[in-house]
Amino acid sequence: MMTDTIPNLTAFDEAALDQAFAALARQAQDAAAALNGEADAEAFRLDWLGRKQGRLNDVSGRWLKAAPPEAKKALGLRFNALKAEVERLLDAALGAGPSDAALAAEAIDITLPGTRRLTGAEHPITRTLNEIVSVFAALGYSVGVGPEVETDYYNFESMNFPPGHPARDTQDTLVVAAQDRRPLRDRLLLRTHTSPVQMRTMEMQPPPVRIVIPGKVHRNDAQDATHSPIFHQVEGLCVDTNITFSDLKGTLDHAMKALFGSAVKTRFFPSFFPFTEPSADVQISCIFCGGKGCRKCKNSGWIELLGCGMVDPAVFAFAAEKQPAYDPKKISGFAFGMGVERIAMMKYGISEIGSFYAGDMRFLGQFV
Ligand code: DAH
Repeated sequence: MMTDTIPNLTAFDEAALDQAFAALARQAQDAAAALNGEADAEAFRLDWLGRKQGRLNDVSGRWLKAAPPEAKKALGLRFNALKAEVERLLDAALGAGPSDAALAAEAIDITLPGTRRLTGAEHPITRTLNEIVSVFAALGYSVGVGPEVETDYYNFESMNFPPGHPARDTQDTLVVAAQDRRPLRDRLLLRTHTSPVQMRTMEMQPPPVRIVIPGKVHRNDAQDATHSPIFHQVEGLCVDTNITFSDLKGTLDHAMKALFGSAVKTRFFPSFFPFTEPSADVQISCIFCGGKGCRKCKNSGWIELLGCGMVDPAVFAFAAEKQPAYDPKKISGFAFGMGVERIAMMKYGISEIGSFYAGDMRFLGQFV
């Protein structure tokens, strides 16, 4: 901003005063016209109205003092008018805010499309796992978890796979290296199933127990269309007095209908698991062909979905070491275990298990 000093005034007649004040008013108007933004307005205020160096201060100091007494009134009137004009200019400058150019530079064009941020969503595995858990939660089951790095004792021995038993070979196990000096039961491995959490649960609480245990499990399996070395299971355990195979059948039949629709039928096929006796594989009527027979069910009309059985008394005997109430003469129970990937693949018609882990947004985006 230009800072002209205030000239001395030599003539004090009305015409001279008018001219002198008009010149100042013009200067103020020109300066005000060039103001842009609050900082400029503040500089203008200091320049004109500042108590010490302001021009008006200068005018009243020099002109008013030098004026002969008869001219003071005329000078004072014009001074007040100039001051009012400067204040008006300042108010206008502050009220106007930033200039149009400054506004245009910052402006947000609300007619443009916004930046689209992707909303996160549950992974289909998590979603299926939660769905399975809530079916059982509605039946009064609680939810438990256990460690993924497990001991041989919990993963195998307490589940009635004795050392050297051939049933161990059905679960190709990934073991933690360099533990040969430890007793077998303490050696660490990546759990091959969620069943060890049955034992951990029973050791922590006496019967009755109704619990589902979702979790990740690991096997030394090569990946193909339906196998992955890491996958998920939901384990279930129900222990109380007088639990029978009918309870098991009714519970799982209900759960399969809740997961796949009420038209689904179940059947129980004899099977073997070391920790249940008797054991069964649960098959559901093929959800693709309704049981008529198709490629998906290999023309049998049935699809095998999970394992289950009545808890083996040998398993209760291990639990009774810590919780004597697990006396197989007084209580009974059933257990089941299902693969989450397999159920998700059935529910959503997914043919490659690898799709779950590839992180491909074109796949995952379908589950938003
Ligand atoms: N643990 C079994 C597996 O991974 C699945 C299973 C079968 C769990 C029967 C159970 C059961 O609790 O009763 O192959």
